[in-house]
Amino acid sequence: MDMEVTAWHSLHSTLNAQRDRRPFSRATLRRIVAFARPHRRALAWFLVLSTVTAALAVVTPVLAGRVVDGIVGGAAAGTVLKLAGLIAAIAVAEAGLGLLARRLSAGLGEGLILDLRTTVYDHVQRMPVAFFTRTRTGALVSRLNNDVIGAQRAFSDTLSSVVGNIVTLLLTLVVMLSLSWQITLIALVLLPVFVLPARRVGRRLAGLRREAADHNAAMGTRMTERFSAPGATLIKLFGRPAHESAEFAARARRVRDIGVRTAMVQTYFVTALTLVSALALAVVYGLGGFLALRGHLEAGSIVSLALLLTRLYAPLTALSGAHTEVMSALVSFERVFEVLDLKPLIEEKPDARAVPEGPVAVEFDSVRFGYPSADKVSLASLEEVASLDTRGGAEVLHGLSFRAEPGHMVALVGSSGAGKSTIAQLLPRLYDVDAGAVRVGGVDVRDLTADSIRDTLGMVTQDGHLFHDTIRENLRLARPGAGEDELWDALRRARLDGLIASLPDGLDTVVGERGYRLSGGERQRLTIARLLLARPRVVILDEATAHLDNTSEAAVQEALTEALEGRTSVVIAHRLSTVRAADLILVVEDGRIVERGTHDALLAAGGRYEELYRTQFEQAETSGERADRTATEPTAAR
Ligand SMILES: Nc1ncnc2c1ncn2[C@@H]1O[C@H](COP(=O)(O)OP(=O)(O)OP(=O)(O)O)[C@@H](O)[C@H]1O
Ligand SMILES: [Mg+2]
Repeated sequence: MDMEVTAWHSLHSTLNAQRDRRPFSRATLRRIVAFARPHRRALAWFLVLSTVTAALAVVTPVLAGRVVDGIVGGAAAGTVLKLAGLIAAIAVAEAGLGLLARRLSAGLGEGLILDLRTTVYDHVQRMPVAFFTRTRTGALVSRLNNDVIGAQRAFSDTLSSVVGNIVTLLLTLVVMLSLSWQITLIALVLLPVFVLPARRVGRRLAGLRREAADHNAAMGTRMTERFSAPGATLIKLFGRPAHESAEFAARARRVRDIGVRTAMVQTYFVTALTLVSALALAVVYGLGGFLALRGHLEAGSIVSLALLLTRLYAPLTALSGAHTEVMSALVSFERVFEVLDLKPLIEEKPDARAVPEGPVAVEFDSVRFGYPSADKVSLASLEEVASLDTRGGAEVLHGLSFRAEPGHMVALVGSSGAGKSTIAQLLPRLYDVDAGAVRVGGVDVRDLTADSIRDTLGMVTQDGHLFHDTIRENLRLARPGAGEDELWDALRRARLDGLIASLPDGLDTVVGERGYRLSGGERQRLTIARLLLARPRVVILDEATAHLDNTSEAAVQEALTEALEGRTSVVIAHRLSTVRAADLILVVEDGRIVERGTHDALLAAGGRYEELYRTQFEQAETSGERADRTATEPTAAR
């Protein structure tokens, strides 16, 4: 192996390992073995091949020595040619075995990445919403990418280099000692000079590299945040572009300086190492030549020793880095296992059942609920905080009961932060209650299968999220097999067919991240179309708080009437038209239901609802729904 390449390799392994040093447990090792078990045949073959290849590598220098001895000793031409032929055969064999070993190790490593990735992905997908509200997406994605790859390194690179190098090292030493113990010992004395600085420089470089990584990460977060549609809008409206640029440039300059420093430190190091090994080679020639002149050593042995020496230093440098490399791979494994160990708080029971057939009622029975504390749902490293919040979430809902009869509509009204969205999220079991029960069709949601909850309940959230994908795919999320006709039917009923048909790409139009290419009202109607396509028996609707213009408002209203037709529904209402249509209105304040009844009855009672009506709904009505005011609302006309 080329001396310089080896030096670089050792340097990099030291660097990688400097990132994170934590003790790891025997249990971690056992789990790694479990992960490797399906690949054990390939692993065994790989180890055999590495050993054979390493052994072959030692033979060539010895044969080369024989050739020189043959020339010096005046052997027959045939013998020399035979030796040369043997060297050629070994080279061919080495190449072939090398290819085979690489195929095996690549298969092993990539197979392991595949296993780990799919396992982690499946696991993360099962995590409750609470987990995602806590973690930073970037940290999670890096766990899925970088750490999985780090863990894989342990298998493909480290394993092959460690096994191969140990065999090479031992055989080389044995052969060298048998050729000349004096020269071998002197060559070994130079070793510390070779290996020790690697660690010091490694630490130094690791520090530099960590600083650069921090700056890079900061620049990355800034870019993703500032260059998203909402972020860029905010900067245009309130930001100071010159200041932003200056701050960015300062970091970028620091990264440049670190880059130059790193390059120089690395070059000094590699140059020094190359020099030391060249000096060791000089010792072999000098001392070996001296001994040969005295008749203590064959000329061929000097050639063999010189060639072996290069093969001694190569595995030594590699092994000096291997320890740290193994450590860093283990840490990666641990970080992956850490995610796998997070128990999903919400899991389907083994004997879970489906929602009963037919129209269903939904019911809250003395429900108490507080959002789970961070330490229950997340990892400090994923939240990018030093330690997790252990404060139990304050109770948000305090013993709440109500029932929506089959086909009826219940409207929730109340001040901001009263707990309305929280109530909505408990229905599809995005969270579990602390006490009491939420029932759908008379069955506790905790006893239902996740599939049947998904099929029965449809929810439109306050923000109406859309994936960065075509309108078609965003709709099909609700009904994967939906045909063209079904899609257009849903769009028509959501009063969106005209708009989509007028787009140049129609259903294939890609709505940007979070659906930013649509207006608020259009986005809302698209999420309603998605709901119509899903045809759930129960609809949960968290009306957007943003006020829409008159046309949008009317269109959304029509779409909603279609969506709620004949279905059991729980609607968080911010508009008078919705509240008026409700069979039952619940006024929620501070996590309690303070009033309940129909619009007329509540208005007549003159309590909190009447107050809300005056401050919230009536204003909306005068601005938004003037056109359809009717004489059936005498109290509304003031
Ligand atoms: N993920 C969460 N973790 C912890 N607390 C939360 C979480 N989401 C909401 N809360 C808190 O729960 C309370 C109720 O919030 P909720 O979203 O249910 O209010 P809301 O009635 O829907 O208000 P709005 O009308 O403004 O949408 C608030 O005090 C809020 O701060
Ligand atoms: Mg809300």
